[in-house]
Amino acid sequence: MSANTISVNQGNHQLDGRKHVWLFGYGSLIFKVDFKYLERRPATIRDWQRRFWQGSHDHRGTPEKPGRVVTLTPKEGAICQGMDYMISTDVFEYLDFREKNGYLRLTTTLTFDDGKTAEALVYIATDENEAYLGPASERVIAQHIYRCTGPSGPNREYLFELANALRSLQIEDEHVSKIEQHLLILSQRSEEFTVDNPINNSST
Ligand code: SIN
Repeated sequence: MSANTISVNQGNHQLDGRKHVWLFGYGSLIFKVDFKYLERRPATIRDWQRRFWQGSHDHRGTPEKPGRVVTLTPKEGAICQGMDYMISTDVFEYLDFREKNGYLRLTTTLTFDDGKTAEALVYIATDENEAYLGPASERVIAQHIYRCTGPSGPNREYLFELANALRSLQIEDEHVSKIEQHLLILSQRSEEFTVDNPINNSST
């Protein structure tokens, strides 16, 4: 399947006859809310885990040097906590463009904090899309993220903004925290290198 999912998403019938739908966000849709919504509520979905396994050619990397961003991968019993937005269906024209690098809109059932459930759409990049990078250790993922940047900014900014947003929602995610720890060490080491290394610091 091609990495550009716009036509697949716009050719499905999830939005037919509907004015508003719930959209579940678990990555940049939590910390970069540049779209209109009518209401938002924390929610969870079951049997999916958040993983930095998707390549980003268009936001946090380039086709030659793709960054790593989150997708959801199936895991029985896992709970993914995120944010649910009630949005007007016309917002999907923009969102399908924003999420075009491998993400398909899937229908899922989510649970709100009060235990009530609802049907929602969620953008998931499966292992069948061309930009998929797949698993690696958190240390290797951090090294990868550290080196990448794209039109939306440095890949590490995506990680730090997501980690901060999850913290402010009191969401614990071990995978994200471990990558953050590795990235902080990498950033600190590079600062020390710049400050302490006389060759690097020479003004000639
Ligand atoms: C999402 O945030 O729900 C999808 C993945 C992303 O845009 O980072």
